[in-house]
Amino acid sequence: MSNDSSAKSSKSGGGLRGVTAAESSMSKVNGEDGVLVYQGYDIHDLAENSTFEETVYLLWNGRLPNSDELDALKAEFRENYAVPAEILVFMRHFPHDANPMDVLRTCVSTLAFYDKDGQKTDIESAKHAAVKLTARFPTIVAAWERIRNGNEPVPPDPNLDIAENFLFMMRGEKPDPSEARMLDVCLILHADHGFNASTFTSRVVAGTLADMYGAVTAGIAALAGPLHGGANTAVMRALKVIGSIEKVEPWLDDMLANKRKVMGIGHAVYKTEDPRATWLRRFSEKMGGVTGETKWFEMSQELEKLMKEKKGLNPNVDFYSASTYYMMGIPLDLFTPIFGISRISGWTGHILEQYAENKLIRPRAEYVGKWDQKWVPVEER
Ligand code: COA
Repeated sequence: MSNDSSAKSSKSGGGLRGVTAAESSMSKVNGEDGVLVYQGYDIHDLAENSTFEETVYLLWNGRLPNSDELDALKAEFRENYAVPAEILVFMRHFPHDANPMDVLRTCVSTLAFYDKDGQKTDIESAKHAAVKLTARFPTIVAAWERIRNGNEPVPPDPNLDIAENFLFMMRGEKPDPSEARMLDVCLILHADHGFNASTFTSRVVAGTLADMYGAVTAGIAALAGPLHGGANTAVMRALKVIGSIEKVEPWLDDMLANKRKVMGIGHAVYKTEDPRATWLRRFSEKMGGVTGETKWFEMSQELEKLMKEKKGLNPNVDFYSASTYYMMGIPLDLFTPIFGISRISGWTGHILEQYAENKLIRPRAEYVGKWDQKWVPVEER
């Protein structure tokens, strides 16, 4: 076998682009037309009219709930907001500069100790674990923000929905309703997205019939990477480095000349406007109005325009979520955990789908290594 030809075919299939790996009814990403659908519902319809809790029900059950079903799911979430006290004790021993994604990953893995049915992969038990995880992600992220700053964690308020409760636990005071609604829509927008890297990771782990906690922990690890969920933090870091609208173009020219990727721009599937960016652009502009600090939105708009002109690339979901969250006063390193607070709904939905009709995911690698090597003793090498 020729190593050269193997290398070429492997490269052309790099990253599994365009490969259909399994069937799913969770979401459809139409990259050509910029359309995103969850269980048959257009993302714009859901962002306009739905709530995160209702969207989670839709993703997990394939249909919208009636009001009793929605109330029941919300009640289940609220009953499960609090994390076991041991988790908070554990978190107090973490170094205060620990990355929040590492904290989330570690705490989620630890939560498995406190769920006696957590290792079961039948649909009913796995759904219970999904409820607990979705309810507890915001509690962990907010508690870490308090603990690392030397403050007591704020206990969850069982009268609040997930988005509002997260802001309340993080700040210790209830947010303005319009801000809570904006975050609620952000959670809807980030909930699911086909076989993105973290979702596929979760499904691969679930496909071995490992439990929900293991599959979700792996999803968090994948989401943390700068080419995936980590991009939103990187966008805000870049905007802060650039500093002002006049400096956007020289900064970008330098990035492109050095063949460096601009975070928050481009997408493996969308070749036109990412429909989620449409909403986040509006929110960034709105938050500029609320805070009176319009420069982050204006700089983002300038960078978007120049990337389009110079590279023909569009902003993705991370681009305007960065300035939106920043203007909400959310620390930069919590942007990716907030992505996780939403995406847990998609991961768990996909894991349930995987368990329902499981097949071990086990592709082949195209071997491009050497042949005919003969072992020689170490002292002769
Ligand atoms: N900045 C600069 N150039 C970029 C770019 C970016 N953000 N994204 C893509 N390009 C370039 C590629 O290098 C490629 O150039 P080439 O043809 O000269 O090699 C060209 O644009 C086409 O890239 P494409 O095939 O469309 O993208 P991809 O599928 O290889 O990569 C991403 C998709 C998301 C990995 C890539 O766009 C990226 O790294 N973006 C920044 C990270 C990010 O925001 N991730 C979050 C995704 S939701």
